[in-house]
Amino acid sequence: MEKETVVISKGYDPLKYNGAVKPPIFLTSTYKFKSAEEGESFIRVALGLDKGEEGFVYSRFANPNFDIVEERLSLLEGAESAAIFGSGMAAITSTLLAFVKNGDYIFYTNPVYGGTEFLFKEFFEKMGISTIHVKAGSETPKLMEDKINSHKTNFKGKTVILYIETPANPNNVMIDIEAIVKIKDKLVKEGINAKVIADNTFMGPIFQSPLEQKVDIIIYSATKFIGGHSDVIAGAALGSKENISKIKGIRGMIGTNGNPFDSWLMARSLETIHIRMQRQMENATKVAEFLSKHPKVERVVYPELYDKKSEQYKIYKKQCKGPGSLISFYIKGGKKEAFEFLNSVKICKLAVSLGGTESLIEHPKAMTHSEVNEETLKDAEITDSMIRLSVGIENYQDLINDLKSALDKI
Ligand SMILES: Cc1ncc(COP(=O)(O)O)c(C=O)c1O
Repeated sequence: MEKETVVISKGYDPLKYNGAVKPPIFLTSTYKFKSAEEGESFIRVALGLDKGEEGFVYSRFANPNFDIVEERLSLLEGAESAAIFGSGMAAITSTLLAFVKNGDYIFYTNPVYGGTEFLFKEFFEKMGISTIHVKAGSETPKLMEDKINSHKTNFKGKTVILYIETPANPNNVMIDIEAIVKIKDKLVKEGINAKVIADNTFMGPIFQSPLEQKVDIIIYSATKFIGGHSDVIAGAALGSKENISKIKGIRGMIGTNGNPFDSWLMARSLETIHIRMQRQMENATKVAEFLSKHPKVERVVYPELYDKKSEQYKIYKKQCKGPGSLISFYIKGGKKEAFEFLNSVKICKLAVSLGGTESLIEHPKAMTHSEVNEETLKDAEITDSMIRLSVGIENYQDLINDLKSALDKI
């Protein structure tokens, strides 16, 4: 079965539910056991105390609506297992808590989503975990290896996480996933407990599949393309059964699970993910082309427009199946001009987030990345004139006309 079919057909059997073609929403917090013995056994399995038959116990651990999305997402990604969460941040936090403890290391690429940067610095760093960033781009593997080597003498008994976000939010810079996995493999061969975690929110699941490059875990803000309609906050983690079962253990313990209705919305949205992302990508290609020729635009960062001779373009061609629909661009001028432009758009919605059916436009430095410190912003070229645009499924000519008239008003 092809993936377009899988996301509509798997994970749910209508004949088990009165023939209802669409799944019901299982608004239940708890589940009746057939016997006390079954209850005892299901609870021990849910808590990870025993291996055995899994069953529904309590909706902090699992719910039939979670299961439908988790099965469809796993099949779509070619992952053994998936876990969904109440937000992308809940997915990142729960995944990291499943593997790191005081004294461990997180090496991560800069930039990452502002909330992720904040989480690393304000939460994990304060828990005694070293969070060390390296600049995202073609040089990342070398820079990361150098940084890792300079801390290596301390790695005995420690876990080392290599955390990447590619393309990076918001500057659309790519990191060679295969090269990062090679660094991890080397560490593992030396007896160091290391893992690669990749935030695949910008391109996945349609245009990039980091599990093919053998990362250990993929993270999603499912609020974005997976939800796809800007009406749900959700997250996901995918990987091996062993890793995901550890992550689900944390999810159940700290309660970072999602809820049945949001899971139902995600399952509904997965049915159209191929056509949505394809159309968004086609629109974005035309919009990026327009922006790149506009006299009031300094520079556009969009994979199809990377310099064809650059290392970035090679990385893009090696690991992506398409350019996606996120465009970063720099307006001529500074914050005043950028704000004038943002205050004039009409069809594009001036709002944070991305991946919805509608086009969303924002100012990363003042909005999604406002918690990030000056030095980190500078390193990632998040400037006063930078704009991030998530292209939707509207008519592309209407979008171009909207952007043109707003640019003309500067
Ligand atoms: C790349 C990326 N990862 C993670 C997140 C966090 O996801 P959520 O807002 O669903 O918690 C975001 C949110 O914008 C994001 O863009």
